[in-house]
Amino acid sequence: MAEMVRITDVSPRDGLQNEPGFVLTSDKARLVELLVDALVDEVEVTSFVSGKLVPQLGDADELLDTVLVFKRPDVTYSALVPNEKGLGRLLAASERAGMPLVDKIALFTAASETFNQKNTNASIAQSIERFVPVVKRAREHGLQIRAYVSCVVECPYEGKIEPSQVADVVRLLSALEPDEIDLGDTIGAATPESIGPVLDAARQANSWAERASAETWVLHLHDTHGRAADCVDAALEAGIRSFDSSAGGLGGCPFATGPGERAPGNIATRVLIERIHAKGFETRVNLDRLDRASHLARELVDQAAEDPKFGGRGLG
Ligand code: HMG
Ligand code: MG
Repeated sequence: MAEMVRITDVSPRDGLQNEPGFVLTSDKARLVELLVDALVDEVEVTSFVSGKLVPQLGDADELLDTVLVFKRPDVTYSALVPNEKGLGRLLAASERAGMPLVDKIALFTAASETFNQKNTNASIAQSIERFVPVVKRAREHGLQIRAYVSCVVECPYEGKIEPSQVADVVRLLSALEPDEIDLGDTIGAATPESIGPVLDAARQANSWAERASAETWVLHLHDTHGRAADCVDAALEAGIRSFDSSAGGLGGCPFATGPGERAPGNIATRVLIERIHAKGFETRVNLDRLDRASHLARELVDQAAEDPKFGGRGLG
């Protein structure tokens, strides 16, 4: 039997945070419903960051309440959490609902000091210090922990990032013993040649290796320069068995979008899955149902772009 690869669809979070318009909460909920129906392994539903900075996801609390009804035990719900305040909002929403609304939180830092400062108003070390109480409290509530490292290949401000810089951050994160480390190629700069050394350096730096499984390592590719699918091939060969992607390829990176042109976003979930299948691996995703989610995702951002009420945007 073919080996399974895990798929996390991040379109409701990474996809929508970069779009110029606001997608209605009820429409976001419909997207989550279709993704659950398509049987992706995980949906990154939303983000508990500052609503002033990322107004597109300012309805996180309300959205989680709404999507609870679609939840299946075999589909993980996760949400981005930057700090204690974000976790407090998430836990308060769960308390109001009388049950946990997500299974996992996703923390985020970067391999580039400049990017991390701009994205989270903190140095890399400060951001990881911020995570300590968040991880402790999240664990007390039975939540799994994902830790993103952005800019693992290139930074929009600093240029090339060395694999050793990624390894340094992984070493710091290892102390928190996250369930997953998710390596983000934030601006889609990775090539099949450059991604391998990054994966190797990260895995060698992890100090809780004996408990790490194939799914501990996640690759989060943006498709800015059309190389993401080739990087999937290289990552599968290097042993990666868990990937992020976006229905409809939502989430164009603002640093790669010029006047009148829209840069591709996260690798599209269909493209990712087709590559995985072509390499002889399996996923459990139903592609026909996924197409319905992708179609809706594109429709929603096109509609929202025609009536932009918000100017905020995320960073990758
Ligand atoms: P900060 O400014 O350092 O926080 O923000 P602060 O504690 O100084 O507070 C400043 C204000 O923000 C206060 O409000 C806080 O209450 C509020 P004020 O008193 O001015 O009215 N605040 C919050 N409000 C709601 N929820 C919160 C929260 N925290 C503070 N959780 C923070 C630090 C990180 C929160 C902020 O900089 C932020 O929200 N940044 C947005 C970052 C973001 O969303 N980036 C995109 C996601 S990361 C990504 O896309 C990369 C990834 O896809 C992987 C890849 O591709 O590489 C994951
Ligand atoms: Mg991203």
